[in-house]
Amino acid sequence: VRNLFLVRHGETVYNTENRIGGDSSLTPRGEEQAEALAEHFATVRIPIIFTSNHRRTLQTARPIAARQEPCSIIALPELNEIHAGVCEGLTYEEARQKMPEVARGRAADKYRYVYPGGEGYATMAERVVRGLKKVFYLGNYDENIMIVGHRAVNRMILSRFLSRQEEEIPYIYIPQDRYYHIRIDPYKRSFELVPYRS
Ligand code: G3H
Repeated sequence: VRNLFLVRHGETVYNTENRIGGDSSLTPRGEEQAEALAEHFATVRIPIIFTSNHRRTLQTARPIAARQEPCSIIALPELNEIHAGVCEGLTYEEARQKMPEVARGRAADKYRYVYPGGEGYATMAERVVRGLKKVFYLGNYDENIMIVGHRAVNRMILSRFLSRQEEEIPYIYIPQDRYYHIRIDPYKRSFELVPYRS
């Protein structure tokens, strides 16, 4: 693997409502972002794209794959977004009002906090690492790889490459109009946050 392109899915209906979790679809803006990514990567050879099982990552990957010939999309459940348990489907504001202890717990220690009935950053680490191992096992050593993931999952993936304190991981910036370009070289690694819209 020479280059790992770590992309977040495009804007979803839930994103526009500031809603947690779920399996919502891309908005027209999210579809435009996927098209813009496809255009951006049209001249970069990407034979394999990994996604989660969630609609939003597959919907983002498909136009990119369509511009690559051939390109496989592999959906890995290990790359699914953090499961927010009792807070799934609520807006952050609704969660704050109905379950103030959740917001308090996350504010106190967001990395170790586990959503009741769901996951936390710390408890999802093992499965994300398992997913990443599959990614490197299935991708050819000398070919580029793309992962279309989620905010929390991409933070966990980045933390494997960047040396960050655990406390900082849940706050790593994962925008939807840029992607992380990770160059993997035995002697040198580099990271770049690249905008894809002109
Ligand atoms: O729906 C889940 C979010 O993408 C994760 O972000 O851990 O900052 O709430 P958060």
